[in-house]
Amino acid sequence: MRIDIITVLPELLKSSFEYSIIKRAQNKGIAEIHVHNLRDFCEDKHRRVDDYSFGGDAGMVIKIKPVDNAITFLKSQRDYDEIIYTSPDGESYTQKEANILSLKKNIIILCGHYKGIDQRIRDTYITKEISIGDYVLTGGELAAAIIADSIIRLLPGAISDETSALTDSFQDKLLAPPVYTRPSGYKGLTVPDVLLSGNFKEIEKWKINQSLERTKRLRPDLYDDLMNQE
Ligand code: ADE
Repeated sequence: MRIDIITVLPELLKSSFEYSIIKRAQNKGIAEIHVHNLRDFCEDKHRRVDDYSFGGDAGMVIKIKPVDNAITFLKSQRDYDEIIYTSPDGESYTQKEANILSLKKNIIILCGHYKGIDQRIRDTYITKEISIGDYVLTGGELAAAIIADSIIRLLPGAISDETSALTDSFQDKLLAPPVYTRPSGYKGLTVPDVLLSGNFKEIEKWKINQSLERTKRLRPDLYDDLMNQE
């Protein structure tokens, strides 16, 4: 899978793809991430990406021309399945959406910044607007990093234990059960006996019960959805 990210702050993004599973996925050729500096697509000598908003509103707006140039250039190289814009007014991002995006071949993520981008870009190019939560960030870069991370870790071969991504929180609409590792006793703190029993049927039962109990306690909204669905 290939992800192209268009941003005014490439340096902010790059380091988030240089570690752990995401780095390994790139090294293995499972994922390609290309970060593009929007300024490289400006045609004026000052490489100015923003301008005042028509109508006199406070805050600067990303200009149509450099974004049009960037997207036109990328689209001339290959077909894209989605052109995503990160914005607080987008659709709330969920694991379900991450799963759907992980099946795509090529996507562009355009990071919002300042007061936003010229609406005409949204109207003509953007196929999906995504918000990572009901709060406002300085720019869409951190949102783009989160979206790319959540997609890449799902790609076949990205995580060495194939079942690991499937047992994440939210993957079956439940929070994940608690996990423990050695030592089994630490300063009087113990690990639930069942996990040390070697009885896999009982361990599975315990995990499901823990997931249900935690979801009911910590995310009653998810729990109610699940119960109403059944
Ligand atoms: N840009 C600013 N705030 C954002 C948010 N909550 N989600 C996605 N992009 C954003």
